[in-house]
Amino acid sequence: MTDAELLAAADAIAERAYAPYSNFHVGCAVLCRDGHVIEGVNVENAAYPLGVCAEKTALSRAIVEGYRPGDFTVVATTASPCGGCRQWLAELQVERVVFRNGDRVVVMTADELLPEQFEL
Ligand code: THU
Repeated sequence: MTDAELLAAADAIAERAYAPYSNFHVGCAVLCRDGHVIEGVNVENAAYPLGVCAEKTALSRAIVEGYRPGDFTVVATTASPCGGCRQWLAELQVERVVFRNGDRVVVMTADELLPEQFEL
């Protein structure tokens, strides 16, 4: 699957976002090393800080399916990942992240998105 195809999957799933407060629909598609694609959307809450990002719902689904850090080749998302999501992308050792930022499509590694990472 190409980066463009994965980003198209993220674009399509964004329709399922539950974002009645921001109206900002985000979709995310995770390509696993075995070829599986797992999708996520942002899920908001009336208590605003409790909402979760599309990257987190997609990556959480992947973990539930049994995937582990290092199993993820590409994450495509329709928004530039927030700071917290960058930490998640780093934790799960995602190789490459493809995202929309305005009119541009950006490709970066998790290390580039979060330099000088915290290590426990
Ligand atoms: N959002 C994401 O889903 N991913 C990001 O990386 C950036 C922000 C969501 C959170 C919230 O539901 C909406 O976008 C507006 O911030």
